[in-house]
Amino acid sequence: MNDLKKTIFIGVAGSIAAYKACDIIREFVKRQMDVHVVMTPDSHNFITETTLAALSRNPVATDLFSSQPYGPIPHCEIAQKMDVLLVAPATANTIAKFAHGFADEILSAIFLATSSPVLIAPAMNPNMYSHPMVQENINKLEKAGVIFINPIQAEVACGQKGPGHLAPVDRICDRVEDILHSKKSFKGRSFIITAGPTREFIDPVRFISNRSSGKMGYALARAAQRRGAKVTLISGPVAIAPPDGVDFLPVNSAEEMLAEVKRAFSVADVVIMAAAVADFRPIAMRNTKIKKEEGIPEIRLESTTDILTDLGRVKGKGKILIGFAAEDRDLIENAQRKLNLKCLDFIVANDISVQGTGFDSEANQVTIIHNSGEKISLPREDKLLIAEKILDELECILH
Ligand code: CTP
Repeated sequence: MNDLKKTIFIGVAGSIAAYKACDIIREFVKRQMDVHVVMTPDSHNFITETTLAALSRNPVATDLFSSQPYGPIPHCEIAQKMDVLLVAPATANTIAKFAHGFADEILSAIFLATSSPVLIAPAMNPNMYSHPMVQENINKLEKAGVIFINPIQAEVACGQKGPGHLAPVDRICDRVEDILHSKKSFKGRSFIITAGPTREFIDPVRFISNRSSGKMGYALARAAQRRGAKVTLISGPVAIAPPDGVDFLPVNSAEEMLAEVKRAFSVADVVIMAAAVADFRPIAMRNTKIKKEEGIPEIRLESTTDILTDLGRVKGKGKILIGFAAEDRDLIENAQRKLNLKCLDFIVANDISVQGTGFDSEANQVTIIHNSGEKISLPREDKLLIAEKILDELECILH
């Protein structure tokens, strides 16, 4: 049983964007949440209960008076069971009902009965969204503590362009998670987190790099920022977007990463080196593309600076250094050696020979080794959850 598992109820209203609820549900299931759906009467015109039940893997609540499947008084049972209520998509009608305290169908009754956080992602025609009546209702709900995830400016189903298009699925899901994990245990602390691979150029078009996706480092940056840390994310080239609210410094080479880390180090309380920094680089980069006619090139390499080892030497009191060890053999021995050599507080060791974990995957299976010798082996889990567990360990050291 995963103690971080949260229960979300997703209210689906009668908007053409109701089909987007499918992607939202799938994303929350992927993020290992217990996902339930509540349908308004009008939503049945746009999407079926069967689809939503199958995707959420739970029965769907559709009726204020039916005793199935959420007990004899469903709106009260559901209101108590949830950690968060998300309404996506929300129509002008649902927003109006919430703002005026109606309780004539299951979703608006749940809204009134719950004391959990409520987030609303509207989707409607831009003129409807901009109408003073709708805006007044939104303002009223915001004053009552409801969080709105604003629609974006884009073409909507009727062909009109303007604000009214449901916010992107990732933005909706990230916002919900931010609200759920809003304990501010790192408030006032500065973190440097590195992520991704580095690129060591051979000529203007070729480089030496590795398979790091950056997912582990980005998950840590997001989780630390959510716990109140001021995060500087220094990242090699990756295909994912940096989390909102972090200071983002993109770099290419190990040398550039070293320079940025050193610049930020004096004010940092914690450094987490999740980047897969190249150990070797070409001695000299050619300014022009190497041509085939020149024959097979001989590329001579030299070592890059080991950033963590450098930091370990000048660490001083009060700073926390955390490293990663990617190993394909002798996991614990190698990680332990790096922990000592680089003067780390703890190291996160992962066995890259295990299928479905490590570099390219969504999941990881790690062992945390503290400099006291204590070892904590975590089960294979999504990188977002691994990030939370790593930060839990860090909290124990910091407090
Ligand atoms: N690291 C670093 N600078 C480097 C290489 C690695 O700061 N030039 C950091 C990594 O970010 C990681 C830790 O050192 O936190 C261990 O990296 P890893 O690649 O596992 O080990 P290496 O020390 O490079 O040794 P080896 O490649 O021989 O396993």
